[in-house]
Amino acid sequence: MENKLYNNELAFELATKKIDESRQGETLTVERPSTTASNGKKFYIESYGCQMNFADSEVVASILSQSGFDSTTEFTDADLILLNTCAIRDNAEQRVRHRLQHLQSVKKKKKGALIGVLGCMAERLKEKFLEEEKIVDIVAGPDAYRSLPLLIEEAETGQKAVNVLLSREETYAEINPVRLNSNGVTAFISITRGCDNMCSFCVVPFTRGRERSRDYESIVAEAKELFEKGYREVTLLGQNVDSYRYSKDPKLVGKKLVDAKYDEGVVNFARLLEMVAEVSPLLRVRFSTSHPKDMTDDVLHAMAKHPNICKYIHLPVQSGNSRVLELMNRTYDREWYMQRIEAIRNIVPDAAVSTDIITGFCTETEEEFRDTLSMMEFAKYSMSYMFFYSERPGTVAAKKYKDDIPEEVKKRRLQEVVDLQMKLSLEHNKADVGKTFEVLAEGTSHRSEEHLFGRNSQNKVVVFPKADIKPGMYVQVKVTDCTSATLKGELVH
Ligand code: 5AD
Ligand code: SF4
Repeated sequence: MENKLYNNELAFELATKKIDESRQGETLTVERPSTTASNGKKFYIESYGCQMNFADSEVVASILSQSGFDSTTEFTDADLILLNTCAIRDNAEQRVRHRLQHLQSVKKKKKGALIGVLGCMAERLKEKFLEEEKIVDIVAGPDAYRSLPLLIEEAETGQKAVNVLLSREETYAEINPVRLNSNGVTAFISITRGCDNMCSFCVVPFTRGRERSRDYESIVAEAKELFEKGYREVTLLGQNVDSYRYSKDPKLVGKKLVDAKYDEGVVNFARLLEMVAEVSPLLRVRFSTSHPKDMTDDVLHAMAKHPNICKYIHLPVQSGNSRVLELMNRTYDREWYMQRIEAIRNIVPDAAVSTDIITGFCTETEEEFRDTLSMMEFAKYSMSYMFFYSERPGTVAAKKYKDDIPEEVKKRRLQEVVDLQMKLSLEHNKADVGKTFEVLAEGTSHRSEEHLFGRNSQNKVVVFPKADIKPGMYVQVKVTDCTSATLKGELVH
């Protein structure tokens, strides 16, 4: 059984059926604004990691094109090669290091070409990156993208350029991300940056800094603009969307508005969701990621009230055992999490729930691991992202706890989780056979030119005959068959 799993990435692949995995390393092209003169240079950008990083690359592309750069999808063609990196697990970092080795040859061939590392790995390693990876010229952390044009100028003079300052305010609120190689139907909108949760295993609070919420007016304006351009689905992104809070009151801006409510002049996540849902009933709204400690019933009621808020919640559990959850500093226990699942079932009965799971966290016993399996059975997740624990330097867990579960045990537990999820996903999908769903068509199926794929409200991929349907249209599909990853069906007129 063990040799089926080599690393976290494979587990990820198994879990997501390559839907998300296929985007790793994806590139992006942009059209320079007609009002900006070209500086004759081209940039190439590749993104790794979470949806937030992909959204950030769109901000970076916008900043660079505003300052005269053109984009290219061929790194051999580029004067500036950027990798937007992820540091969440060791594997993610290894992948970037391999990529940098590969890029070394480009640098040899093209004199003067610059290589820049952006994102979480840049923030984690800072100047050390330049020592470790000699070919890197520019290091910019997630809050330093506005300074990229300056950093590039500096690097062009032969200096190494670094900006890894984290900010308490930066939300890139007014920067309009470019979306030219998207499908034109679905888009991401960042609503918060950073994270204040300090889960003991996680490097994100160190790489993305303190949590801050973006002005709701700029979020709603972005959603409106996307809708007017023909987009039909937006996903509101944040490390913990439930902690979104924003007030126009200058005394409150930038403050952590912990218990403030909307009627005190503060917009919380439930209210923001409704504001975006009210842009148009034809605009679907999704959000990710929810945190079990912060997800309120108000959010669930907002979902129940608006048909266009998708009935899907990504609610990472990490572990099903209360002692392990405490060590992870998740600030909820097994019972609390189960109550949240019950609340979802009561208030939004047709919602699908997915999760993140870590196996083999410090000191996790076999019996405690079984609690994760039983939690999966209880919550009946439609999908999971599953990982084995990877110690990250600088985190609380790395400082306080011994990474004492042998790798083969971590991997065997992970395999058990993956196997159970496959079974649960198949059961979940089988229960949909015979039902009819509204599906937003996104594009041609990867398997057949004759078919389109889209998603239903529960975020399940649905494949159906193309007929005369175009991406961006809503269709009714009756499910006739399924695998653990996909629903297949026929059009209902
Ligand atoms: N090891 C393994 N998985 C991790 N995650 C975060 N940090 C680690 C780590 N050190 C997982 C969590 C989180 C998801 C984005 O990545 O499950 O929810
Ligand atoms: Fe990391 Fe926890 Fe913040 Fe998620 S909520 S980014 S796991 S610290």
